[in-house]
Parts: sequence; structure tokens; C-alpha cells
Amino acid sequence: MTRKILVTSALPYANGAIHLGHLVEYIQTDIWTRFQKMRGHECWFVCADDTHGTPIMLRAEKEGVTPEQLIARVHAEHSRDFAGFHVAFDNYHTTHSEETRHYAEDIFGKLKAAGLIEVRSIEQYYDPVKNMFLPDRFIKGECPKCGTKDQYGDACESCGAAYAPTDLKNPYSAVSGAQPVLKSSDHYFFKLSDPRCQEFLRRATREVCKAQPEAINKLQEWLGAPGENKLTDWDISRDAPYFGFEIPGAPGKFFYVWLDAPIGYMGSFKNFCAKKGLDFDEFWGKGSQAELYHFIGKDILYFHALFWPAELEFAGYRTPTSVFAHGFLTVDGAKMSKSRGTFITAESYLAQGLNPEWLRYYFAAKLNGTMEDIDLNLEDFTQRVNSDLVGKYINIASRAAGFVAKRFEGKLLHSHLNERFQAELPGIMEAAEEIAALYEARDSARALRRVMALADQINQYVDKNQPWTLAKQEGQEAKLHEVCSLLINAFRLLTIYLKPVLPKLPPAHLINAYEHLMQRIDPKQIDALIAANRESLEPAVAQAAAAAAAVAPAPTSSAPHSPQRHAQHQQATEDKTQGQAMPAAQHISIDDFGKVDLRVARIADAQHVEGADKLIRLTLDIGEGGTRNVFAGIKSAYDPAQLVGRLTVMVANLAPRKMKFGMSEGMVLAASDADGKSPGLFLLSPDSGAQPGMKVK
Ligand code: MSP
Ligand code: ZN
Repeated sequence: MTRKILVTSALPYANGAIHLGHLVEYIQTDIWTRFQKMRGHECWFVCADDTHGTPIMLRAEKEGVTPEQLIARVHAEHSRDFAGFHVAFDNYHTTHSEETRHYAEDIFGKLKAAGLIEVRSIEQYYDPVKNMFLPDRFIKGECPKCGTKDQYGDACESCGAAYAPTDLKNPYSAVSGAQPVLKSSDHYFFKLSDPRCQEFLRRATREVCKAQPEAINKLQEWLGAPGENKLTDWDISRDAPYFGFEIPGAPGKFFYVWLDAPIGYMGSFKNFCAKKGLDFDEFWGKGSQAELYHFIGKDILYFHALFWPAELEFAGYRTPTSVFAHGFLTVDGAKMSKSRGTFITAESYLAQGLNPEWLRYYFAAKLNGTMEDIDLNLEDFTQRVNSDLVGKYINIASRAAGFVAKRFEGKLLHSHLNERFQAELPGIMEAAEEIAALYEARDSARALRRVMALADQINQYVDKNQPWTLAKQEGQEAKLHEVCSLLINAFRLLTIYLKPVLPKLPPAHLINAYEHLMQRIDPKQIDALIAANRESLEPAVAQAAAAAAAVAPAPTSSAPHSPQRHAQHQQATEDKTQGQAMPAAQHISIDDFGKVDLRVARIADAQHVEGADKLIRLTLDIGEGGTRNVFAGIKSAYDPAQLVGRLTVMVANLAPRKMKFGMSEGMVLAASDADGKSPGLFLLSPDSGAQPGMKVK
């Protein structure tokens, strides 16, 4: 049955660049929608820029442009960045559009008619110099709990206390620096405390979050125990000056950005319907049979799982089928940071010449449909892409395609291909449904693990059949043709399985062009990327030092407490921490040792390497970690036949290395004299009972 599916990603704010954190979401959604389209469903993927609100208004002012000019420029930048990462929206619109205005007014009008809008006067901080009400984030002052200066109006970054802006001591406006005054004005509220809303939210929002138990727990927390009305009415208006839609019949009052932002999903789709001749109501009308999914970050679950379904429900529209929340991106285990150079923009990644499909693959290999944070470990990134994509997947084509081109005019064997394929490479075709089910469940991590296990299986077939040996033997022409044809066919299947993640690879004429399919990551490119995103520490340190000097009590000793000195001190502290991480040559820390992933390995196969007088090609089985191809310089001491079946120890996380004879994906451990020659070489073995894959530590 063909499903009708409408999918959205959250609308990025129009006042900042797309960064790798954003891309976790857009790539994830893109993979899912590409998968649905490949399955033949009618699936549409829409998004837009989120253009309204105070920060965008102030940003435009600072840049000396109108908000309209700012959002037009950012729209072009965002579109360029998304295209650069192959995020293929069917429509990328803007919330500052007639369509969005139409549905915002429509929904507001219907909520009002349902008796769910109330006007109340509230008192808020007002900037008397700028003549505007201040959002919490634009009021700063001293934390009422711990006294730390320059804290925002909603929470203290030092002690974590949450409070109202009016609790701050010595508040000031972050816009003008003026002391804010309290002023009252009328605001529009969406009455979420109304019993109808409470009943609806308790019943329906669990449904919306059913895919994620963690999200259901959050909802429970927000709604409180039955009877405990924890949800309060929602303030949906802001006073002029504001960049947004003016509320009909309420001059000087505007819809709060979070009211019209999700309505932007409808606006974008409406805009798309007009271009495509689709029926909007078929997707958004009450009782719609279409599926509606919102991919979002966990930080905006509140808006999508509570406010948004309530807006839709009481305005007479369908509600979302499901909301899929994901976690946050960290880089090397820490929050993205401008000073560390890990606040990496999409633009800078592409400007370094890094392949967008590397990042797509890496994110996909980590995303599993839960709300857990995901870490971009830069070393692991290089290693995983090089070993999985290039070492395992591309390697299959590169080991067969050359022969097909040179020896068989680029033609594959036809007769009995399927039969032979089933016999020689069983299960590869049958894995399709299992992999599809994993994509459907948004568990691309497991889908890709499955594909890589198939790649291992195929590479073992290569090692067993050695096309390069067949090519040199008389009378093996037919066999060589069969082996290479099966390999190309296997590669084609893996390519289909990887297609949602790697939509551009490989180009059509893969048999001739295999060498250009994908390059490996050079670690130097990663260093350059970090350097390009690192905001110089110096001004920040100097500023902090100046601030510290300004508030520090006058020094009592003769030692001058100058900003320069302070800066030097900071520098020294940083050197010290670096020094700790990089100890003297004779010693390494336990953490350094921990970086080496030593595993028990079973030698599944061992072969002489044609033309190499020192090397043996080992196929090492490390249990769940799959198999690795390793070239070991142990030929002087061992005969391949005596090695097969025995256990040894390998370094499993050594960056794969391309050698003359193929890819080496690790290293086995052997003891020898300092000169490596006399009296011989001794491969390490674990005591009996050890299993392949066990960690050595
Ligand atoms: N404009 C709102 C969304 C409105 S949707 C009707 C917004 N914009 S945002 O630009 O801040 O974020 C856009 C999306 O990117 C959100 O889903 C957010 O969770 C996600 N991410 C932003 N930074 C992120 C990370 N560091 N990691 C993962 N996702 C992140 O929120
Ligand atoms: Zn505090």
C-alpha cells in the first residue's frame, strides 16, 4: 500500500549559520524521507526558516539592514548549506510568508472562537532607553542565589538556579545597558489550563510521543499527576516593536514567534501544494489519512508535544502522527565550543573540501532513534569512514571492477548470475527487508552495522577467491568473470542499502570509474577544519582579564594585577593542562594506554602475498567487531598454514593503511629483539579460553 507521508525538520532560526549540530537533525530527516521515497511511498519533506522574534529584529538592526533583508540573505545561505549536504527538501520556505500568516490568523481566530484565548494584563521589564519590553534572555544581572554577575534573566550559568527576571539583583538591559523598569501591558494567552485542553493533552500527547519512552516521561513530568494541573496558560503575544505578524484587531500586538513557527510547517506545505497541485486538506484536514511526522531536537519537545498538538486540535486540524526527538551533538565528548574550534559550521566543513557524505555516514552510524546525545569524535570519524566506507565498501568494487573493465569489456556475466550469487554469497539479497525495517524505525546505526557485516562477508569471498590470482592463471578466465560479476552485483546491492545515507555515491559508470568513488579522510583536513572554526582565544582572555581586573579588589601587595599578567596566568594554566595530557617520553598515562584498542583475534585465514617477501595476509576475526584484513611482517617466522585457527592479539583501532597489496586494517602483536631479526619473531597468544573480540587491558 502506498502511504502518504508528510515529514518536517524543525525550522532553523534565521539569525545564525547552520552548524554540524543542526545537521544531525536535517541529515537524519533526509535519510528517513529518502528511504520512504525509495520504498515507493508518497513522501514530502518540507521545512522553512524561522524568521520572527526579537533576536532577529535586533540582529538586523545591528547589521544596519531591515529584518526582511537579513532573512532573505540567511535563507540563501541556509539553502546553500543544506544542498551542500544533500539535504533534499521538497520545499524550503520561510515563516515570513503569506501562507504562514494566513494559517496563524486562522488558528488564532478558531482558538478564540472556541473560548480558549484570554487577554490579561501582565507586568514585565521594559527598557526605557530602547522603548521595548525585554525578553528574559535580554535582561542580565546578579544571580539571586549565588550572586554571580552578568547572568541571564531565566537561569544562572554558575549555580544552575532557575528564576524570574524580576528576581535578578541589579538588573540591566543587555540591549542598551539601561536599568529596566516594570511596566504592564495586555497579553494574549492560550488557555492550556482549560479542562478541555488538560483532558486532550493527557490523552493525545502520549500518542504523539509513543515512539520514545523518554519523551513520554518528560510529558508526564510537565503535565503532573492526574488532577495536578501543572500546565499554565501560554503567553502568545508580544508588544511592538517586534518582527512578526500583527494580531488581527490588536494594533501593536504581535504573535509570539513560537506561535507561528510550527504553523510555518503548514505554510511551507501550502506553498508547495500550490506549486505541485497537491491537496493541502488531504494532509492537514481533520481525519486525514496521511501520516505527519516532525523531527526535532529534544530542546523543543515541549513546544511540539504539548502546545502544537493543542493548537491544531482546537483549531480543527489533524494532529501529528508522531514527533521524533533526537539528542544533542557533542564534539570530542564536549559541548560544541567556539574557543576550541568545535562549533563547526556547515560552510566551513565544505570549504575544507571534506566530503558531505562522510558526515552523513558518521551521523547515520550513530543515530538510533532515541533522545541520547550523539558524539562526533574526530579521530573515530576519520577512522570509521576510512575503514568502513573506503576499506570495506568501496574496496569491493575496487577489487573487481578493474578486471571487468580490462578483461571483459566492462560486461558482467549474465547466465546463472542469480543462482551463483545465492550459492556463493547467501543472505545478501535477503537482508533487504531487515535493513528496511531498521531504517523505518530510524535506527540507521543498526542498519549500517548490518550493511558492514555484509561487506565483511563479501570481502571474505574476495580473499577466498583471489581474483588477482585467478587473473594470472591459465584457464581461469570464466571463474574470474564469475567472481568479479558476483562482486559487482554484491556491491550494487550494498549501494542500494546505503542509498538513503549516501545518495550521491557512486556515479553511474562505476565499473570504469571506481577509483574516483570516494577518497579517504586525511587527518590533516580535520586539523584544518578545527583551526578554521577556532575563534582566537586571545581577545576573549583579554576581555575576561579586563573584566576580572575591573571587579577585583585593589591589590594589596606590590604585585601589579594587570590584564597582561592575568592573561599570562591563563595561558600558563592552559599549558599546564596540556602538559598533563602530554607527559614525559618515558611514561604514558593510563588514559593514553586506554586509547589502544587491543583485542583477542582468531586468525581465520592466512595467505602468502604475491610479490611480498616479508608479509602474510591475515584475516582476523574479532567477534562482534567483524573481520579485519591485516598485512603482518611475520613471513620469516611463520608459515601461513600453521597460523590458521590460532588466537593472537591485535590493535583494532589503528587507522587503516593502504599498502601496495591492499588495505591493512590493524596490527598483530609479536615480540622480537630490538633489531627485529635475531633470534626471531614471536606472535602473542592469549591463554586458552579467551574468545575473539575480548578486550585486552
Ligand atoms: N526555530 C526553532 C525551531 C522551530 S520549529 C517550529 C529552533 N531553531 S534552531 O535553529 O535553534 O534549531 C533547529 C533544530 O536544530 C532544532 O530541532 C534543534 O534541536 C536542532 N539543533 C540545534 N543545535 C543542535 C545540536 N547541537 N545538536 C543537535 N541538534 C541541534 O529551535
Ligand atoms: Zn547562581
